[in-house]
Amino acid sequence: MTASQQVVLPDSLEGKTVLVAGSAGFVPSHLSEHYLNLGAKVIGLDNFITGSESNVEALAGYKNYEFHKCDVTKGLPNLDGVKIDYIYSLASPASPIDFQVIPEEIMSVNSIGTWNLLQLAKEKGARFLEASTSEVYGDPEIHPQKEDYWGNVNPIGLRSCYDESKRFAEALTMTYHRTHKVDTRIIRIFNTYGPRMRPNDGRVIPNFINQALKGEDITIYGDGSQTRSFCFVSDLVAAMHRVMFSNDPTPFNIGNPDEYSIKETAELIVKLLDSSSKLTFLELPKDDPKRRRPDLTKIQSVSDYEPKVSFEDGMRQTAEYFKSLF
Ligand SMILES: NC(=O)c1ccc[n+]([C@@H]2O[C@H](COP(=O)([O-])OP(=O)(O)OC[C@H]3O[C@@H](n4cnc5c(N)ncnc54)[C@H](O)[C@@H]3O)[C@@H](O)[C@H]2O)c1
Repeated sequence: MTASQQVVLPDSLEGKTVLVAGSAGFVPSHLSEHYLNLGAKVIGLDNFITGSESNVEALAGYKNYEFHKCDVTKGLPNLDGVKIDYIYSLASPASPIDFQVIPEEIMSVNSIGTWNLLQLAKEKGARFLEASTSEVYGDPEIHPQKEDYWGNVNPIGLRSCYDESKRFAEALTMTYHRTHKVDTRIIRIFNTYGPRMRPNDGRVIPNFINQALKGEDITIYGDGSQTRSFCFVSDLVAAMHRVMFSNDPTPFNIGNPDEYSIKETAELIVKLLDSSSKLTFLELPKDDPKRRRPDLTKIQSVSDYEPKVSFEDGMRQTAEYFKSLF
């Protein structure tokens, strides 16, 4: 690690303004809270397509939080005269269920929405961070995935609305960096879970926890040998903050490298929640990636990033949240 690569984190962000697009969503609401706790003013934007009003209500208790209901593909609120230091582009549905129901909205927010936010960053001289995804690696042929792997994506498959629009968002971000000299960052987020996820959003952890809490069968697609790595949301936010304060515009993988098979994940959740649920196996959907694990060498070479929350602890906190919704 060289001194110039080392991430230096600010002690406080008092006097700074952070704009979070998608602030009513799962990850973005935790990120907004992180910056409010660091003393920044946070401007949240969201159209609630997958976000929730209760997430915004949780943030509204902070006097430095300002929320604008808006669809970032249709234009941004009037921010004339407002100084903005950091912009997080997080507005995008992210669950496989959304890929089937609102594919055009996904493609539009990751293209036009990202474009509008990059233009705002250019006008304001703000640093811009695009939240991309491990899905840009598609069904990877290389394991674990390093940032210089270009991926194995089906451009016309059921997941392509998400995968390809995120790849476009990355390309657009680098274009603004090269052409307009905008100070940009890109993160590729691997599976993340925690409180404030939608209970019925179709992702593995909410599915399994809710089925286990209700004593219903746990539905596994395929034989459950496919692997995932799961990052608790507070660890993800810590990584995002470090990338924002790095000085490298090229993508960073962020997540937790501990790898579990889907079957093992289900068994762990059943045991942890002392549930009577049984495992049931359904047909594997097309293009479901077989293995996913981030190679974190890059972020760890420039920062002290290390996931801290154990699988058991993270699952317990998430289960408590879902129980509170019953
Ligand atoms: N959670 C994960 O495991 C994961 C993994 C990879 C990438 N990501 C990325 O992180 C970001 C947040 O994901 P999340 O899991 O918290 O999803 P989420 O759906 O909970 O949050 C996204 C938010 O963006 C809002 N939004 C969507 N389109 C919008 C539009 N046109 N205008 C304004 N707001 C809009 C939604 O209403 C929602 O509140 C997304 O960009 C996602 O692609 C998440």
